[in-house]
Amino acid sequence: MEKPSSMSSKAEMIERKLDNAFQTRALAEKLSDLLQIGDAILLRGPLGAGKSTLARALVRKLTSPDEEAPSPTFTLVQSYPTRAGFDLYHFDLYRLSDPDEAYELGLDEALSDGVALIEWPERLEDRLPPNRLDIELSVPTSALLAIDCEDEPRLARITAFGTWKMRIGELAHD
Ligand SMILES: Nc1ncnc2c1ncn2[C@@H]1O[C@H](COP(=O)(O)OP(=O)(O)O)[C@@H](O)[C@H]1O
Ligand SMILES: [Mg+2]
Repeated sequence: MEKPSSMSSKAEMIERKLDNAFQTRALAEKLSDLLQIGDAILLRGPLGAGKSTLARALVRKLTSPDEEAPSPTFTLVQSYPTRAGFDLYHFDLYRLSDPDEAYELGLDEALSDGVALIEWPERLEDRLPPNRLDIELSVPTSALLAIDCEDEPRLARITAFGTWKMRIGELAHD
């Protein structure tokens, strides 16, 4: 027989169509209002899917519209004090060779007193933060055939784990 707890541990998922980069930024801004200390936002998707567009919009909403917020390609992590009171840690794990390295970079500390925004979470393998919102951005296959898919809509598949299951509903609409 299925234990009742297996129901509550089930992840919740929603899908959003993002017609343009403006809508991706609007999603990031909405997300910024829902953040709590200990949260992780995971951004997945191929090159050009819109991960950095979403990350930058989130950083700017929580800091200043003038914040450049470059992806921390070489430093792997960049932290920002935010208006919300917590620190936001933006990780770009593309160059990570071992999941342990993320913890050497301070992922544990980020999650104990702040919020982690993680591009390329695949590099963490199965060592994923418990309270995480997993956002997978994709470009429709038909658009991949186009030489320039810049203006094509994206699909965001958003999956909630841990405490995010109570908040994901807020992201289902504008
Ligand atoms: N719905 C959309 N969401 C995000 N980016 C979009 C969208 N539509 C078009 N774009 C464009 O696609 C590019 C995405 O680039 P970027 O955010 O750097 O991707 P990634 O970090 O995933 O490689 C940007 O030039 C952006 O303006
Ligand atoms: Mg990027």
